[in-house]
Amino acid sequence: MPEATDTNAAFWKSDEHIAQWVASADERERHRRDQRRLLAELLPLDQQAAFTFIDLGAGTGAAARVVLDAYPNATAVLADFSPQMMDEGAKALAPYAGRYRYVELDLAHGTWPEAMPAQVPAVISSLCVHHLPDDRKRSLFAEILDRLTPGGWYLNYDVVAAGDPVVGEAWERAGDRRDPAAAEARHHRTPEQQRRYENHVRYMIPLAPQLQFLAEVGFEGVDVYWKQLDAVIYGGRRPLLGATR
Ligand SMILES: C[S@@+](CC[C@H](N)C(=O)[O-])C[C@H]1O[C@@H](n2cnc3c(N)ncnc32)[C@H](O)[C@@H]1O
Repeated sequence: MPEATDTNAAFWKSDEHIAQWVASADERERHRRDQRRLLAELLPLDQQAAFTFIDLGAGTGAAARVVLDAYPNATAVLADFSPQMMDEGAKALAPYAGRYRYVELDLAHGTWPEAMPAQVPAVISSLCVHHLPDDRKRSLFAEILDRLTPGGWYLNYDVVAAGDPVVGEAWERAGDRRDPAAAEARHHRTPEQQRRYENHVRYMIPLAPQLQFLAEVGFEGVDVYWKQLDAVIYGGRRPLLGATR
């Protein structure tokens, strides 16, 4: 069971943790290229369109950079609460100078700073929503809907929990066959690795309630657009004739 105390903010604002996270990021990203690209392709925007999009919990901009590549006239607003991740992002985003800006935003709370755009045609997030408690996931989805222009899309690439232990075992079995070191690592975590794991899974929930939250707050076209084991891309769009919430 994860620690009762929410260590998420301390975790993402730790120099030591961010240094470790960044050092291993390229290796993780090698396995995510197709998913990152698909998320960009799902946006219903003309490839030459000049538009602004928001990346929530953007980190170093791994998702935003792929969207910026796919839409050469787009600009990104990257929101995050970790100064360390934003500093690292400034390095990774150097080739995109003039096409992005960071805004400090704590997604655990519902106050979006004025520096956030009032409305955009696309909001994305990746590997961050699972760090938020369930009621906050739901209220965040409502805030995202408000920030979207009618017909605008929200897409989230994230990891989900299995709702059934049999399913969880199947995911683990297949994952371990692909990456035998994963099983070994799971059984021999250092205390630090255990803390990192607990922060990772603290608020992770199955896919179905997250789709339900999206539909309940007023998104349409809600679906899981890609899935492999515990990794998913889900989302939906703001109805064309205004929010129906
Ligand atoms: C696993 S990283 C993912 C970063 C990036 N989206 C990606 O796909 O590589 C999680 C990110 O979420 C951010 N994050 C976690 N909790 C947050 C919160 N409450 N408010 C804002 N950002 C948060 C962290 O600072 C970190 O940059």
